[in-house]
Amino acid sequence: MRTDRLMPAQRLGGGRIRGLVVGMQFPREVPLSTEAYEFLARLIYERSRIRIGPDRQSLVSGRLGQRLRTLGLDDYGQYCSLLRSAGGEDEIGALIDLITTNHTEFFREADHFEILSRNILPAASGRLAGSVRPFRVWSAAASSGEEVYSLAIVLAEFARQRPGFAWRIDASDISMRMLDRCRRGIYPAARVRLPDPEWLPRYFQRGIGEREGYDRVKAEVRQHIAVHHINLFQPRYDVLPGLDVIFCRNVMIYFDLESREALVERLTEQLVPGGYLFVGLSENLVGVRHGLKSVWPSVYMRPE
Ligand SMILES: C[S@@+](CC[C@H](N)C(=O)[O-])C[C@H]1O[C@@H](n2cnc3c(N)ncnc32)[C@H](O)[C@@H]1O
Repeated sequence: MRTDRLMPAQRLGGGRIRGLVVGMQFPREVPLSTEAYEFLARLIYERSRIRIGPDRQSLVSGRLGQRLRTLGLDDYGQYCSLLRSAGGEDEIGALIDLITTNHTEFFREADHFEILSRNILPAASGRLAGSVRPFRVWSAAASSGEEVYSLAIVLAEFARQRPGFAWRIDASDISMRMLDRCRRGIYPAARVRLPDPEWLPRYFQRGIGEREGYDRVKAEVRQHIAVHHINLFQPRYDVLPGLDVIFCRNVMIYFDLESREALVERLTEQLVPGGYLFVGLSENLVGVRHGLKSVWPSVYMRPE
């Protein structure tokens, strides 16, 4: 047994120390040198524009430690060599995926969904009447999908009142792990907290058997949604322009000003004139040069 991988108490043998059962293996923290940290932070920025500050070593090693163990690597020098190697491209994707912060929830920043339902949809459905095109929304940092299905519920509720109102959602994220969850649309029941109790049976199926304790978004909702793997800074997007609404919330916060400006300019081009960009409530576009009109808190309109 390699004793260097054990906690000090374990190296002394098994037993119970301060309530801990020892004799079990605890993962050894692999030290992250400044050189390796700077290389990783630079690579992550170049590929995703996610800016990791100079004091986040413990965050990075906390997120990557398990990855090194899975790959059977002993130190970050080996990991950096793998990333630099000819075959390192897939690992760069895995690295960025692990670095992303994916916190989200159903109807997060609920005012935005109210604005969509009370203000934007009634006006847009009048404009779209007689047109064959659906109302189109893009959730551009969708994470595990709670935002996407919250949008879907609002659109489906609106369509119940206006037969003939057609809608589509594109959902994307840089994290493949999150997109898998988004595609599945299965959530622990305790996390499916919706503003209206009638929506749960209307839009979700209760899990039974081994799925007990989980709710799944019904197929008739999921069929309106296309999921894509998109880095917001990749040269071309797989989502067609002509969008009525873009939700790009709680992601700008990870980007520097220059990147935010470039991103807002590109997202603006994806909108129809009169279309709306939603950013997170804590990340309004103050200080960002843009050609949008501010209409509600953290909601901007492309001028007509
Ligand atoms: C905190 S979550 C926000 C989820 C949701 N929009 C919300 O407000 O609840 C941020 C998401 O942005 C994604 N992300 C970070 N950088 C990205 C990039 N360059 N391109 C696309 N997605 C990115 C992360 O993977 C993560 O899932």
